[in-house]
Amino acid sequence: MTGGARLAKMRESGRIVRKVLDELRAFAAPGVTTAEMDSLARAIISSEKGRPSFLGYHGYPAAVCISIDSEVVHGIPSGRRLKEGSLVSIDVGVFKDGYHGDAADSFFVGAAPSRSADELVEVTYEARRRGICAAVCGNRLGDVGSAVQDYVESRGFAVVRDLVGHGIGRKLHEPPQVPNFGTPGRGEKLTDGMALAIEPMVNAGTWQVRVLDDGWTVVTADGRLSAHAEHTIMVSGSDPVVLTA
Ligand code: MF3
Ligand code: CO
Repeated sequence: MTGGARLAKMRESGRIVRKVLDELRAFAAPGVTTAEMDSLARAIISSEKGRPSFLGYHGYPAAVCISIDSEVVHGIPSGRRLKEGSLVSIDVGVFKDGYHGDAADSFFVGAAPSRSADELVEVTYEARRRGICAAVCGNRLGDVGSAVQDYVESRGFAVVRDLVGHGIGRKLHEPPQVPNFGTPGRGEKLTDGMALAIEPMVNAGTWQVRVLDDGWTVVTADGRLSAHAEHTIMVSGSDPVVLTA
């Protein structure tokens, strides 16, 4: 297959991921359950002739991950209801025509509960943007990780170390791993056509996390807030192509 055909297929998966994220964000409101959001995601993905990438992945039981407040990632949709001021992170993966797209957004239901909570989300998106800007041909993975880490720490927050971004394409997770920390000039070199999921997870307090007894939900070790933002991108010269924008 030509590079252009692969790019077109990954753009299509990415388009559906974006549609799901936007519709779920619009649907989120006090009283809505995370299971209702998961159902909406399934309906959109199936109407677009895709398949949820996460459903059944290592036994994951839902279409999307919805992580609230101190939950970092991999929150399982349930009968729990959103509240005014909840910090919601939604992670969506879609498989269509042989290729995956993967992205996440974080936002508040209604108004942010505090100025610093608001800042946490703003810093998470800016960290993602800076990581993507460093994903240029000839740079190395350490350039991406350090761009994220240096910025986040300069703003007084912490990046999660135990979970990383990843290559993506025919499989949801492909090499290389894409850490949100690192040393400039170190690590694998980035080349044209590499597809990467860049996904900073930013904590208000300590970077340390633990996994709940459900075997999935990752939470902050100190119970403070965490936000997550992810895009699937393709390295292309000095202009990364964002496939889930
Ligand atoms: N975006 C996450 C990741 O790349 C979501 C995976 S959830 C899982 O790891 F259920 F698929 F594991
Ligand atoms: Co991912």
